[in-house]
Amino acid sequence: MTKLLIDCDPGIDDALALALAGGSPSLEIVGITTVGGNVDLARTTRNALALREFLRLGDVPVVPGSAGALLRHTVRAAHVHGSTGLGDAVLPPPARIADAGHAVDFIVDTLRAAPGEVTLAATGPLTNIALALRREPRVAEWARDFVIMGGSYTRGNHNPAVEFNMAADPEAASIVFDAGWTVKMLGLDVTLTALVTRGVLDRMRPLGRLAADLLVPAATSYGVVTAEGGPAIHDACAVAYVLDPSLFTCLPAVVHVETAGRYTSGMTVTDFALRDRPANALVATSLEVDRFWDVVLEAYGRLASR
Ligand code: BDR
Ligand code: CA
Repeated sequence: MTKLLIDCDPGIDDALALALAGGSPSLEIVGITTVGGNVDLARTTRNALALREFLRLGDVPVVPGSAGALLRHTVRAAHVHGSTGLGDAVLPPPARIADAGHAVDFIVDTLRAAPGEVTLAATGPLTNIALALRREPRVAEWARDFVIMGGSYTRGNHNPAVEFNMAADPEAASIVFDAGWTVKMLGLDVTLTALVTRGVLDRMRPLGRLAADLLVPAATSYGVVTAEGGPAIHDACAVAYVLDPSLFTCLPAVVHVETAGRYTSGMTVTDFALRDRPANALVATSLEVDRFWDVVLEAYGRLASR
């Protein structure tokens, strides 16, 4: 059983990642921390709370964190995720409020309490993780593993060079990549191969209320679904990596996060040749797509039959 702490900004694909984690018996979600990202912190937190109840995640703490980037003006992606952050999915309003405290303290305290046991996955801007590392650098030692959806060595989506989670807080990303651990980077290079095609959607549709209220409206509001392509469920790749790293091919690399560029701040400049220092990341370069969907849809199936 892997203990998993998820720092996220739900977000359609964050929601689909939480559903994957929730439907995976080999994972124990020990906490969900939220960050302002796709939409503002109040909405990402509300969505996390609604998802905790809708996905029946029990008493998993949901703890809000940073509202915005360390230094920069706010960048949002409501044009992608809709004004609520969950696209066309409408979940019942959460009955319970967020847990007390701040995400940064929660991350530090949770990892301190169980060194080497808790895997940290981040699917939003890296503000909370950077602040946790600034407060307590041993977070990098205590984490069993650290996995992000973010970055890319081939392209951007916020702009041609920069992926959204990196664009939203480049300084935080730079701190996180330089923290002395090996960041498992699931970037656009692989996440843009995890597409909700018509075939995938057809496998989701029979999954009852989970499909009707969340999976299908969320996925279809996010992009056009065709036989060959559709929206990418980026963040689910981070959870899939935790479940089964063998789904991905990964290569060691040095990832430098650009923080000074006029057009490139947040770019993850990825050096597979390891020119000037040892690797600080394992970067995913390919994904076994069919097997990925088998894992994801099996988990959704389990969740739907609960
Ligand atoms: C990432 O950006 C966000 O919009 C998504 O939730 C995902 O985490 C993809 O670039
Ligand atoms: Ca996200």
